[in-house]
Amino acid sequence: MPRGTLIVFEGLDRCGKTTQTRLCVEGLSRTGVKLAAGLPWRFPDRTTPIGEVLNTYLTSKTELGDEAAHLLFSANRWEKAATIREALGRGETVVYDRYAYSGVAYSVAKGLGMEWCLAADEGLPRPDVVVFLEVGVDEARGREGFGGERFEEAETQKRVGAVFDRLKGEGWSVVEGSGRMEEVAERVKAVVWPVVQAVTGRDDEVGELWG
Ligand code: TYD
Repeated sequence: MPRGTLIVFEGLDRCGKTTQTRLCVEGLSRTGVKLAAGLPWRFPDRTTPIGEVLNTYLTSKTELGDEAAHLLFSANRWEKAATIREALGRGETVVYDRYAYSGVAYSVAKGLGMEWCLAADEGLPRPDVVVFLEVGVDEARGREGFGGERFEEAETQKRVGAVFDRLKGEGWSVVEGSGRMEEVAERVKAVVWPVVQAVTGRDDEVGELWG
């Protein structure tokens, strides 16, 4: 059976990922593409036991060392890896708000080594497309809600952005995230739909990070 497409949205805090992942799912559902239930899915997935710990960490109710936090964010993805592969195997398309690239970008921005950070996520399902929503830190800072959680200060965001720049590679589409949300959604559609069409016609295996 032809597999589904794995679509990932990445970007800095308050770049509009949450709105754009939702609009992307709505757009795809109108085209009749078979979708996994309850999309968009997101990391951190705060509903799992590990996700609950991450939630207390992100809201600064608990402290964690950087290495421990990194491994928990990664474990949070590993606990969903089989579910992702199963959905794709059933021909369902999956849309994620953040993935392993966020894991690496935030941890390297804190000072952890790139290789060490990459290793924890090695072997996870590889996205068919990574939509990176590019928004300047100054614009994100002006958006409602910025600064409410850990890591949402401008200096951290600049460092995270610099690591994302190093991660950009094959399969990435950088989409300008400023402007009206409908305009951004059109730009997203222009990169996502051709990928969905191409993958739907194929019968290949889902790849693995970091291949
Ligand atoms: P998220 O819930 O996506 O917040 P927002 O909706 O504000 O973008 O992510 C919460 C924070 O967790 C965000 O600052 C990014 C950070 N994060 C990591 O540090 N490592 C990870 O692996 C992931 C997925 C997120």
